[in-house]
Amino acid sequence: MLKILILGGSGLLGKKLVEKASDSFEVISTFNNHKIEHSKSRTIRIKLPDEIFNLKSLIFNEKPNLIINTIANTNIDYCEQHKTETYLLHVEMNKQIFKLCEDIASKFIFISSDYVFDGKKGDYMEYDKTSPVNYYGETKAIAESIILQNPTNTVLRSSLIYDWDPQVRFLNYVVDKLRKNENIQAYDDFLTAPIFLEDLVGSIIKAVKKDASGIYNLAGPSCVTRMDFALAIARKFNFDKNLIEPVSVKSLDLIAERPRNSSLNKTKAEKDLDIKFRSIEEGINEVYKKYKIENPTKH
Ligand SMILES: NC(=O)c1ccc[n+]([C@@H]2O[C@H](COP(=O)([O-])OP(=O)(O)OC[C@H]3O[C@@H](n4cnc5c(N)ncnc54)[C@H](OP(=O)(O)O)[C@@H]3O)[C@@H](O)[C@H]2O)c1
Repeated sequence: MLKILILGGSGLLGKKLVEKASDSFEVISTFNNHKIEHSKSRTIRIKLPDEIFNLKSLIFNEKPNLIINTIANTNIDYCEQHKTETYLLHVEMNKQIFKLCEDIASKFIFISSDYVFDGKKGDYMEYDKTSPVNYYGETKAIAESIILQNPTNTVLRSSLIYDWDPQVRFLNYVVDKLRKNENIQAYDDFLTAPIFLEDLVGSIIKAVKKDASGIYNLAGPSCVTRMDFALAIARKFNFDKNLIEPVSVKSLDLIAERPRNSSLNKTKAEKDLDIKFRSIEEGINEVYKKYKIENPTKH
C-alpha cells in the first residue's frame, strides 16, 4: 500500500485530504497548532522552520512513497508584511523537502495557488508564465519552480476553496450576517474560479492514483466575484439579496495587491484526472445540505 505523508493535515484542505486519502492509502500527517485526530492515520506536531530536523527524521524513518505539502500561510496581507518569515516557510522549507524527497526517491506533490498569476487576463493555462502581484504569490511561484526541477513531481494549483466549514471565512461571514438580516459588503471587481473542497480533495487523490506529474490547475467552472458568490448563497439560502452591497477592492484598503482575474482553466485536470468540478450553484447546493444538517431549525 502506498505510504503518504501529508504536511499540514490540520488545515482546511489538509484535514479533509487526510480523511479521504486514509480510505485508500497509509497516511501520516503533520500539524502545527491544531491537532486533529484521524481514526485511520497518525499525526505528528511539526512546526516549521524551527523543527525541520524532526521533519527530516520523520521522512528518513518512514520513507513515504509520496509527500504532499499543503502547508502555507494563507493570510496574503500577513505574508506581504512578513517577507522573511514567508520566504522561510514557502520557499526554504520546500527546498529542503524537495532535497529530502530526492534522497529517498519519494514523489513530491506541492499545493500551489492561482495567485501565481497577475490576473490581467484570467482563464490561465498550466503553461502560462507566472507573474505574481503579491509576496504570497511570488513565494508560491518560486516554490513551484523548485519542485518541478524533478519532472516526476507535481504542482497542483488551487483556486479559492469553499465548503461548509468554519475555516472558510467569507462563506461563514455571508451566511452569519444575512441570516441575522444584517448588511454585508462584497467586492464586485475581482474574479476567481472557486473550487468546492470535496472536488479539490477528489482531484488530488485522482492525481495520486494516476501518478500525474507536472502542473495541473484545479478550479471550478464558474468565474465569479465575491458579489456573485454572496448572491448565489442568498438565492440558495433564501436570504434577502438587497442586504449585499457591492464594493470595490480598492475601498477595502488591503495591504497586498490582489490579481484582478486569477481564474484558472481546468480543462487539463478534467480530462487527465477524469473529474468534473462543480459549478458555484452545485457547490452551494452541497454547502446548503451540510448547513441544514447542522442547523435543522434555522432559516
Ligand atoms: N484556502 C484557499 O482558498 C486556497 C486557495 C488557493 C491555494 N491554497 C493553498 O492550499 C493549501 C492549503 O490551504 P488551506 O486553506 O487548507 O490552509 P490552512 O487552512 O491555513 O492550513 C494550513 C496548514 O499549514 C499548517 N501550518 C501553517 N504554518 C505552519 C508552520 N509554520 N509549520 C508547520 N505547519 C504550519 C497549519 O497547521 P495548524 O493549523 O495546525 O497550525 C495547517 O495544517 C495552501 O498551500 C494554500 O496556499 C489555498
